[in-house]
Amino acid sequence: TKRKLWGGRFTGSTDPLMHEFNQSLKYDKRMYAADVKGSIAFSKALLKAGIVTAEEQAELTRGLKLVEQEWAENKFVIQADDEDIHTANERRLSEIIGKDIGGKLHTGRSRNDQVATDMRIWLMDETAAAEENLKNLLSVMVSRAENEMDPILPGYTHLQRAQPVRWSHFLLSHASAFTTDLNRLREMVPRISVLPLGSAALAGNPYGLDRELLREELGFQSIGENSMHAVADRDFVVEWLQWASLMMIHMSRLAEDLIIYSSAEFGFVTLSDAYSTGSSIMPQKKNPDSCELLRGKSGRVFGQMAGFMMSLKGIPSTYNKDLQEDKEPLFDAVDTVSAALRIAEGVIATLTVNSDKMAAALSMDLLATDVADYLVRKGVPFRETHHISGRSVALAEAKQCQISDLSMAEWKDLSEHFTEDIADVFNFETSVEKRNAIGGPARAMIQRQVDIARQRIAGK
Ligand code: ARG
Repeated sequence: TKRKLWGGRFTGSTDPLMHEFNQSLKYDKRMYAADVKGSIAFSKALLKAGIVTAEEQAELTRGLKLVEQEWAENKFVIQADDEDIHTANERRLSEIIGKDIGGKLHTGRSRNDQVATDMRIWLMDETAAAEENLKNLLSVMVSRAENEMDPILPGYTHLQRAQPVRWSHFLLSHASAFTTDLNRLREMVPRISVLPLGSAALAGNPYGLDRELLREELGFQSIGENSMHAVADRDFVVEWLQWASLMMIHMSRLAEDLIIYSSAEFGFVTLSDAYSTGSSIMPQKKNPDSCELLRGKSGRVFGQMAGFMMSLKGIPSTYNKDLQEDKEPLFDAVDTVSAALRIAEGVIATLTVNSDKMAAALSMDLLATDVADYLVRKGVPFRETHHISGRSVALAEAKQCQISDLSMAEWKDLSEHFTEDIADVFNFETSVEKRNAIGGPARAMIQRQVDIARQRIAGK
Protein backbone atom coordinates (compact mmCIF):
# COMPACT_ATOMS: atom_id res chain seq x y z
CA THR A 1 0.00 0.00 0.00
CA LYS A 2 1.24 3.43 -1.03
CA ARG A 3 -0.58 5.18 1.78
CA LYS A 4 1.81 4.08 4.51
CA LEU A 5 4.41 6.67 5.38
CA TRP A 6 7.17 4.24 4.51
CA GLY A 7 5.35 2.84 1.46
CA GLY A 8 7.76 4.04 -1.25
CA ARG A 9 9.80 0.88 -1.73
CA PHE A 10 6.81 -1.45 -1.38
CA THR A 11 4.71 -2.89 -4.17
CA GLY A 12 2.73 -5.44 -2.17
CA SER A 13 0.33 -4.64 0.62
CA THR A 14 0.48 -5.62 4.27
CA ASP A 15 -1.36 -8.72 5.41
CA PRO A 16 -4.32 -7.50 7.48
CA LEU A 17 -3.38 -9.62 10.47
CA MET A 18 0.21 -8.38 10.16
CA HIS A 19 -1.06 -4.80 10.14
CA GLU A 20 -2.99 -5.49 13.31
CA PHE A 21 0.00 -7.27 14.87
CA ASN A 22 2.31 -4.35 14.10
CA GLN A 23 -0.12 -1.57 15.02
CA SER A 24 0.65 0.12 18.34
CA LEU A 25 -1.66 3.12 18.02
CA LYS A 26 -4.35 1.48 20.15
CA TYR A 27 -2.09 1.84 23.17
CA ASP A 28 0.59 4.40 22.27
CA LYS A 29 -2.02 7.07 21.47
CA ARG A 30 -1.86 7.98 25.14
CA MET A 31 1.52 9.59 24.35
CA TYR A 32 -0.07 12.01 21.88
CA ALA A 33 0.82 15.12 23.89
CA ALA A 34 4.43 14.02 24.38
CA ASP A 35 4.67 13.35 20.64
CA VAL A 36 3.37 16.80 19.76
CA LYS A 37 5.65 18.44 22.32
CA GLY A 38 8.67 16.62 20.86
CA SER A 39 7.68 17.62 17.32
CA ILE A 40 7.23 21.30 18.16
CA ALA A 41 10.68 21.36 19.77
CA PHE A 42 12.05 19.52 16.75
CA SER A 43 10.61 22.13 14.37
CA LYS A 44 12.59 24.78 16.25
CA ALA A 45 15.81 22.82 15.72
CA LEU A 46 14.87 22.55 12.01
CA LEU A 47 14.44 26.33 11.88
CA LYS A 48 17.82 26.93 13.49
CA ALA A 49 19.43 24.50 11.02
CA GLY A 50 17.82 26.35 8.10
CA ILE A 51 15.63 23.40 7.02
CA VAL A 52 12.40 25.34 7.48
CA THR A 53 11.65 29.05 7.43
CA ALA A 54 10.20 30.95 10.36
CA GLU A 55 6.80 30.95 8.62
CA GLU A 56 6.98 27.20 8.04
CA GLN A 57 7.98 26.60 11.62
CA ALA A 58 5.03 28.68 12.82
CA GLU A 59 2.74 26.69 10.54
CA LEU A 60 4.13 23.38 11.85
CA THR A 61 3.50 24.55 15.40
CA ARG A 62 -0.02 25.68 14.58
CA GLY A 63 -0.84 22.38 12.91
CA LEU A 64 0.68 20.28 15.67
CA LYS A 65 -1.34 22.15 18.28
CA LEU A 66 -4.50 21.45 16.31
CA VAL A 67 -3.58 17.76 16.16
CA GLU A 68 -3.09 17.75 19.92
CA GLN A 69 -6.42 19.51 20.40
CA GLU A 70 -8.18 16.88 18.30
CA TRP A 71 -6.83 14.14 20.56
CA ALA A 72 -7.68 16.09 23.70
CA GLU A 73 -11.24 16.65 22.52
CA ASN A 74 -11.59 13.05 21.36
CA LYS A 75 -12.08 14.24 17.77
CA PHE A 76 -8.99 12.68 16.20
CA VAL A 77 -10.17 10.30 13.48
CA ILE A 78 -7.90 7.28 13.26
CA GLN A 79 -7.30 6.02 9.72
CA ALA A 80 -6.90 2.34 8.90
CA ASP A 81 -3.29 2.87 7.84
CA ASP A 82 -2.21 4.75 10.97
CA GLU A 83 0.44 2.54 12.52
CA ASP A 84 1.47 4.31 15.69
CA ILE A 85 1.07 7.71 17.35
CA HIS A 86 4.02 9.13 15.39
CA THR A 87 2.73 8.23 11.92
CA ALA A 88 -0.84 9.14 12.88
CA ASN A 89 0.13 12.60 14.09
CA GLU A 90 2.31 13.27 11.05
CA ARG A 91 -0.39 12.10 8.65
CA ARG A 92 -2.96 14.36 10.29
CA LEU A 93 -0.52 17.29 10.44
CA SER A 94 0.00 17.14 6.68
CA GLU A 95 -3.75 16.99 6.14
CA ILE A 96 -4.18 20.16 8.18
CA ILE A 97 -1.26 22.29 6.95
CA GLY A 98 -0.50 20.55 3.66
CA LYS A 99 2.21 18.09 2.64
CA ASP A 100 4.61 20.78 1.42
CA ILE A 101 5.30 22.00 4.92
CA GLY A 102 4.12 18.97 6.95
CA GLY A 103 6.44 16.76 4.95
CA LYS A 104 9.49 18.68 6.19
CA LEU A 105 8.97 17.89 9.88
CA HIS A 106 10.63 14.48 9.85
CA THR A 107 13.91 15.78 8.34
CA GLY A 108 16.85 14.30 10.25
CA ARG A 109 14.51 12.43 12.56
CA SER A 110 13.50 8.79 12.76
CA ARG A 111 10.68 7.18 14.67
CA ASN A 112 13.50 5.47 16.54
CA ASP A 113 14.72 8.60 18.29
CA GLN A 114 11.18 10.00 18.28
CA VAL A 115 9.61 7.11 20.16
CA ALA A 116 12.41 6.94 22.71
CA THR A 117 12.01 10.68 23.30
CA ASP A 118 8.23 10.46 23.61
CA MET A 119 8.47 7.61 26.11
CA ARG A 120 10.87 9.57 28.29
CA ILE A 121 8.75 12.74 28.16
CA TRP A 122 5.66 10.74 29.04
CA LEU A 123 7.37 8.83 31.84
CA MET A 124 8.80 11.98 33.42
CA ASP A 125 5.24 13.31 33.83
CA GLU A 126 4.02 9.98 35.17
CA THR A 127 6.94 9.80 37.59
CA ALA A 128 5.97 13.19 38.97
CA ALA A 129 2.39 11.93 39.37
CA ALA A 130 3.59 8.75 41.11
CA GLU A 131 5.68 10.89 43.44
CA GLU A 132 2.61 12.95 44.37
CA ASN A 133 0.54 9.82 45.03
CA LEU A 134 3.28 8.27 47.14
CA LYS A 135 3.71 11.49 49.11
CA ASN A 136 -0.04 11.60 49.79
CA LEU A 137 -0.02 8.01 51.07
CA LEU A 138 2.98 8.73 53.27
CA SER A 139 1.41 11.89 54.66
CA VAL A 140 -1.67 9.96 55.77
CA MET A 141 0.45 7.24 57.39
CA VAL A 142 2.63 9.76 59.19
CA SER A 143 -0.32 11.82 60.45
CA ARG A 144 -2.07 8.74 61.83
CA ALA A 145 1.15 7.66 63.50
CA GLU A 146 1.54 11.05 65.11
CA ASN A 147 -2.06 11.27 66.28
CA GLU A 148 -2.47 7.69 67.52
CA MET A 149 0.53 6.97 69.71
CA ASP A 150 -1.45 5.49 72.61
CA PRO A 151 -2.51 2.08 71.28
CA ILE A 152 -0.02 -0.69 71.96
CA LEU A 153 -0.23 -4.04 70.18
CA PRO A 154 1.91 -7.14 69.98
CA GLY A 155 4.77 -6.86 67.54
CA TYR A 156 5.32 -10.14 65.71
CA THR A 157 8.25 -12.19 64.50
CA HIS A 158 7.48 -15.47 62.72
CA LEU A 159 3.88 -14.31 63.12
CA GLN A 160 4.26 -15.22 66.81
CA ARG A 161 3.67 -12.55 69.43
CA ALA A 162 7.08 -11.12 70.28
CA GLN A 163 7.20 -7.78 72.09
CA PRO A 164 4.82 -4.88 72.63
CA VAL A 165 5.10 -1.92 70.24
CA ARG A 166 3.02 1.15 69.58
CA TRP A 167 0.53 1.02 66.70
CA SER A 168 2.31 4.15 65.42
CA HIS A 169 5.59 2.28 65.35
CA PHE A 170 4.04 -0.50 63.30
CA LEU A 171 2.54 1.99 60.85
CA LEU A 172 5.84 3.85 60.53
CA SER A 173 7.68 0.61 59.86
CA HIS A 174 5.73 0.38 56.61
CA ALA A 175 6.11 4.11 55.99
CA SER A 176 9.88 3.65 56.26
CA ALA A 177 9.84 1.29 53.28
CA PHE A 178 7.74 3.74 51.27
CA THR A 179 10.03 6.64 52.20
CA THR A 180 12.94 4.75 50.69
CA ASP A 181 10.80 4.08 47.62
CA LEU A 182 10.20 7.81 47.37
CA ASN A 183 13.94 8.44 47.38
CA ARG A 184 14.50 5.75 44.78
CA LEU A 185 11.82 7.25 42.55
CA ARG A 186 13.45 10.67 42.74
CA GLU A 187 16.87 9.20 42.06
CA MET A 188 15.64 7.65 38.81
CA VAL A 189 14.69 10.98 37.25
CA PRO A 190 18.17 11.96 35.96
CA ARG A 191 18.37 8.63 34.16
CA ILE A 192 14.93 9.01 32.57
CA SER A 193 15.74 12.58 31.60
CA VAL A 194 18.32 11.79 28.88
CA LEU A 195 17.42 13.11 25.43
CA PRO A 196 17.55 10.71 22.44
CA LEU A 197 16.21 13.21 19.86
CA GLY A 198 18.81 14.09 17.20
CA SER A 199 20.10 10.51 17.07
CA ALA A 200 17.77 9.79 14.12
CA ALA A 201 17.56 6.11 13.14
CA LEU A 202 20.87 5.10 14.74
CA ALA A 203 23.63 7.08 13.08
CA GLY A 204 22.78 10.64 14.06
CA ASN A 205 21.67 13.42 11.70
CA PRO A 206 23.68 15.25 9.03
CA TYR A 207 21.90 18.61 9.48
CA GLY A 208 23.76 19.82 12.54
CA LEU A 209 20.51 19.89 14.53
CA ASP A 210 21.15 21.68 17.80
CA ARG A 211 20.58 19.02 20.43
CA GLU A 212 21.32 21.47 23.23
CA LEU A 213 18.38 23.54 21.97
CA LEU A 214 16.22 20.39 21.91
CA ARG A 215 17.30 19.48 25.46
CA GLU A 216 16.46 22.98 26.67
CA GLU A 217 13.08 23.09 24.87
CA LEU A 218 12.01 19.70 26.22
CA GLY A 219 13.37 20.19 29.73
CA PHE A 220 15.68 17.18 29.69
CA GLN A 221 18.59 17.08 32.13
CA SER A 222 21.13 15.65 29.68
CA ILE A 223 21.69 14.47 26.10
CA GLY A 224 22.19 10.87 24.97
CA GLU A 225 25.87 10.76 24.05
CA ASN A 226 25.77 7.82 21.63
CA SER A 227 23.19 7.74 18.86
CA MET A 228 23.17 3.93 18.63
CA HIS A 229 22.61 3.56 22.36
CA ALA A 230 20.08 6.40 22.47
CA VAL A 231 17.64 4.59 20.16
CA ALA A 232 18.21 1.15 21.71
CA ASP A 233 18.22 2.01 25.39
CA ARG A 234 15.14 1.00 27.39
CA ASP A 235 16.92 0.74 30.73
CA PHE A 236 14.76 3.58 32.02
CA VAL A 237 11.68 1.43 31.39
CA VAL A 238 13.23 -1.58 33.12
CA GLU A 239 14.31 0.54 36.05
CA TRP A 240 10.85 2.02 36.48
CA LEU A 241 9.32 -1.46 36.37
CA GLN A 242 11.85 -2.64 38.94
CA TRP A 243 11.08 0.35 41.11
CA ALA A 244 7.37 -0.36 40.80
CA SER A 245 7.89 -4.05 41.60
CA LEU A 246 9.73 -3.32 44.83
CA MET A 247 7.28 -0.60 45.87
CA MET A 248 4.39 -3.00 45.22
CA ILE A 249 6.09 -5.69 47.29
CA HIS A 250 6.12 -3.22 50.17
CA MET A 251 2.47 -2.51 49.42
CA SER A 252 1.73 -6.22 49.43
CA ARG A 253 3.33 -6.77 52.82
CA LEU A 254 1.39 -3.87 54.32
CA ALA A 255 -1.80 -5.25 52.77
CA GLU A 256 -1.08 -8.71 54.17
CA ASP A 257 -0.64 -7.30 57.69
CA LEU A 258 -3.93 -5.42 57.40
CA ILE A 259 -5.73 -8.50 56.10
CA ILE A 260 -4.54 -10.51 59.09
CA TYR A 261 -5.19 -7.68 61.55
CA SER A 262 -8.72 -7.15 60.24
CA SER A 263 -9.70 -10.82 60.73
CA ALA A 264 -12.02 -11.58 63.66
CA GLU A 265 -9.22 -13.58 65.29
CA PHE A 266 -7.05 -10.46 65.52
CA GLY A 267 -9.54 -7.62 65.17
CA PHE A 268 -6.85 -4.94 65.60
CA VAL A 269 -8.23 -2.85 62.76
CA THR A 270 -11.53 -2.53 60.92
CA LEU A 271 -11.39 -1.52 57.27
CA SER A 272 -14.01 1.04 56.30
CA ASP A 273 -16.96 -0.03 54.19
CA ALA A 274 -15.58 2.13 51.40
CA TYR A 275 -12.68 -0.28 50.93
CA SER A 276 -14.43 -3.59 51.65
CA THR A 277 -16.89 -5.75 49.78
CA GLY A 278 -19.46 -8.36 50.73
CA SER A 279 -20.19 -11.94 49.84
CA SER A 280 -22.91 -12.98 47.39
CA ILE A 281 -23.92 -15.88 49.64
CA MET A 282 -22.71 -15.21 53.20
CA PRO A 283 -24.59 -12.17 54.50
CA GLN A 284 -22.25 -11.61 57.45
CA LYS A 285 -19.10 -11.25 55.35
CA LYS A 286 -17.07 -8.08 55.01
CA ASN A 287 -14.01 -8.85 52.96
CA PRO A 288 -10.79 -6.79 52.75
CA ASP A 289 -10.77 -6.87 48.93
CA SER A 290 -8.87 -3.59 48.69
CA CYS A 291 -5.90 -5.10 50.51
CA GLU A 292 -6.19 -8.39 48.66
CA LEU A 293 -6.03 -6.53 45.36
CA LEU A 294 -3.04 -4.51 46.53
CA ARG A 295 -1.35 -7.80 47.39
CA GLY A 296 -2.43 -9.46 44.15
CA LYS A 297 -1.45 -6.60 41.89
CA SER A 298 2.11 -6.72 43.20
CA GLY A 299 2.42 -10.01 41.29
CA ARG A 300 1.05 -8.39 38.17
CA VAL A 301 3.61 -5.55 38.26
CA PHE A 302 6.47 -7.94 38.87
CA GLY A 303 5.24 -9.94 35.89
CA GLN A 304 5.36 -6.86 33.64
CA MET A 305 8.95 -6.29 34.71
CA ALA A 306 10.01 -9.89 34.17
CA GLY A 307 8.18 -10.07 30.85
CA PHE A 308 9.75 -6.93 29.45
CA MET A 309 13.23 -7.94 30.57
CA MET A 310 12.77 -11.18 28.64
CA SER A 311 11.71 -9.18 25.58
CA LEU A 312 14.94 -7.16 25.78
CA LYS A 313 17.22 -10.13 26.17
CA GLY A 314 19.15 -10.95 23.01
CA ILE A 315 17.99 -8.03 20.83
CA PRO A 316 20.81 -7.06 18.47
CA SER A 317 22.17 -3.52 18.35
CA THR A 318 20.02 -0.39 18.06
CA TYR A 319 16.33 -0.34 17.22
CA ASN A 320 14.35 -3.51 16.62
CA LYS A 321 10.57 -3.81 16.69
CA ASP A 322 10.82 -5.90 19.87
CA LEU A 323 11.30 -2.55 21.59
CA GLN A 324 7.69 -1.63 20.84
CA GLU A 325 6.90 -4.20 23.55
CA ASP A 326 8.10 -1.67 26.13
CA LYS A 327 4.80 0.17 26.14
CA GLU A 328 2.09 -2.15 27.39
CA PRO A 329 4.06 -3.39 30.43
CA LEU A 330 5.09 0.14 31.36
CA PHE A 331 1.64 1.65 30.82
CA ASP A 332 0.03 -1.15 32.81
CA ALA A 333 2.53 -0.83 35.66
CA VAL A 334 2.14 2.97 35.77
CA ASP A 335 -1.66 2.64 35.90
CA THR A 336 -1.53 -0.12 38.51
CA VAL A 337 0.87 1.82 40.71
CA SER A 338 -1.26 4.96 40.42
CA ALA A 339 -4.40 3.12 41.50
CA ALA A 340 -2.65 1.13 44.22
CA LEU A 341 -1.14 4.20 45.86
CA ARG A 342 -4.46 6.03 45.91
CA ILE A 343 -6.38 3.01 47.20
CA ALA A 344 -3.79 2.39 49.93
CA GLU A 345 -4.09 6.02 50.96
CA GLY A 346 -7.85 5.63 51.31
CA VAL A 347 -7.56 2.34 53.19
CA ILE A 348 -5.15 3.81 55.73
CA ALA A 349 -7.04 7.09 56.06
CA THR A 350 -10.36 5.39 56.83
CA LEU A 351 -9.53 2.28 58.84
CA THR A 352 -10.53 2.10 62.51
CA VAL A 353 -7.94 1.22 65.12
CA ASN A 354 -9.39 -1.12 67.77
CA SER A 355 -7.11 -0.33 70.68
CA ASP A 356 -9.10 -2.57 73.06
CA LYS A 357 -8.53 -5.58 70.82
CA MET A 358 -4.85 -4.69 70.60
CA ALA A 359 -4.63 -4.42 74.39
CA ALA A 360 -6.46 -7.73 74.83
CA ALA A 361 -3.84 -9.46 72.68
CA LEU A 362 -1.04 -8.30 74.96
CA SER A 363 -0.26 -11.30 77.16
CA MET A 364 2.33 -10.94 79.91
CA ASP A 365 4.77 -13.36 78.27
CA LEU A 366 5.43 -10.53 75.78
CA LEU A 367 7.36 -9.00 78.68
CA ALA A 368 9.64 -12.01 79.19
CA THR A 369 12.44 -10.02 77.58
CA ASP A 370 11.75 -7.23 80.06
CA VAL A 371 12.10 -9.75 82.93
CA ALA A 372 15.51 -10.66 81.55
CA ASP A 373 16.37 -6.95 81.21
CA TYR A 374 15.33 -6.48 84.86
CA LEU A 375 17.92 -9.04 86.01
CA VAL A 376 20.55 -7.51 83.72
CA ARG A 377 20.14 -4.26 85.65
CA LYS A 378 20.77 -6.24 88.83
CA GLY A 379 24.10 -7.35 87.40
CA VAL A 380 23.21 -10.80 86.06
CA PRO A 381 24.76 -11.62 82.61
CA PHE A 382 22.10 -11.49 79.86
CA ARG A 383 22.63 -15.08 78.70
CA GLU A 384 21.77 -16.24 82.21
CA THR A 385 18.83 -13.84 82.60
CA HIS A 386 17.39 -15.14 79.32
CA HIS A 387 17.40 -18.64 80.75
CA ILE A 388 15.85 -17.61 84.09
CA SER A 389 13.12 -15.62 82.36
CA GLY A 390 12.44 -18.60 80.11
CA ARG A 391 11.93 -20.75 83.16
CA SER A 392 9.43 -18.25 84.55
CA VAL A 393 7.46 -18.57 81.29
CA ALA A 394 7.57 -22.37 81.51
CA LEU A 395 6.45 -22.26 85.13
CA ALA A 396 3.52 -19.95 84.33
CA GLU A 397 2.57 -22.19 81.42
CA ALA A 398 2.60 -25.25 83.68
CA LYS A 399 0.48 -23.43 86.24
CA GLN A 400 -1.77 -22.06 83.47
CA CYS A 401 -1.32 -18.50 84.70
CA GLN A 402 0.39 -15.36 83.40
CA ILE A 403 4.02 -14.76 84.46
CA SER A 404 2.83 -11.67 86.31
CA ASP A 405 0.77 -13.97 88.58
CA LEU A 406 3.81 -15.84 89.92
CA SER A 407 4.34 -15.40 93.67
CA MET A 408 7.36 -13.72 95.22
CA ALA A 409 8.45 -17.10 96.57
CA GLU A 410 8.38 -18.54 93.06
CA TRP A 411 10.42 -15.63 91.70
CA LYS A 412 12.96 -16.04 94.52
CA ASP A 413 13.16 -19.72 93.63
CA LEU A 414 14.08 -18.77 90.05
CA SER A 415 16.70 -16.22 91.12
CA GLU A 416 17.70 -14.57 94.38
CA HIS A 417 17.98 -11.28 92.45
CA PHE A 418 14.20 -10.91 92.11
CA THR A 419 12.65 -8.47 94.61
CA GLU A 420 9.18 -6.92 95.03
CA ASP A 421 9.85 -4.40 92.23
CA ILE A 422 9.55 -7.20 89.64
CA ALA A 423 5.85 -6.26 89.66
CA ASP A 424 6.75 -2.94 87.98
CA VAL A 425 8.02 -4.83 84.94
CA PHE A 426 4.52 -5.97 83.99
CA ASN A 427 3.42 -2.76 82.36
CA PHE A 428 3.27 -2.47 78.59
CA GLU A 429 3.44 1.30 78.50
CA THR A 430 6.61 1.26 80.64
CA SER A 431 8.10 -1.50 78.50
CA VAL A 432 7.59 0.49 75.31
CA GLU A 433 8.78 3.77 76.82
CA LYS A 434 12.00 2.15 78.03
CA ARG A 435 12.90 1.45 74.43
CA ASN A 436 13.88 5.02 73.75
CA ALA A 437 17.07 4.61 71.73
CA ILE A 438 16.87 6.00 68.19
CA GLY A 439 14.45 3.89 66.16
CA GLY A 440 12.60 2.54 69.18
CA PRO A 441 8.86 2.55 69.94
CA ALA A 442 9.02 5.15 72.76
CA ARG A 443 6.87 8.21 72.17
CA ALA A 444 9.83 10.56 71.67
CA MET A 445 11.39 8.27 69.09
CA ILE A 446 8.11 7.98 67.23
CA GLN A 447 7.89 11.76 67.12
CA ARG A 448 11.44 11.73 65.78
CA GLN A 449 10.44 9.28 63.03
CA VAL A 450 7.42 11.44 62.18
CA ASP A 451 9.57 14.56 61.89
CA ILE A 452 12.17 12.85 59.73
CA ALA A 453 9.51 11.29 57.49
CA ARG A 454 7.91 14.72 57.00
CA GLN A 455 11.28 16.13 55.89
CA ARG A 456 11.76 13.28 53.43
CA ILE A 457 8.28 13.80 52.02
CA ALA A 458 9.13 17.46 51.51
CA GLY A 459 12.29 16.38 49.70
CA LYS A 460 14.69 17.64 52.37
N1 ARG B 1 5.82 2.24 17.21
C1 ARG B 1 7.24 2.06 17.26
C2 ARG B 1 7.68 1.72 18.66
O1 ARG B 1 6.88 1.90 19.50
C3 ARG B 1 7.93 3.30 16.84
C4 ARG B 1 9.28 3.12 16.26
C5 ARG B 1 9.19 2.40 14.98
N2 ARG B 1 10.41 2.47 14.25
C6 ARG B 1 10.62 1.75 13.21
N3 ARG B 1 11.74 1.88 12.60
N4 ARG B 1 9.74 0.89 12.79
O2 ARG B 1 8.75 1.26 18.92
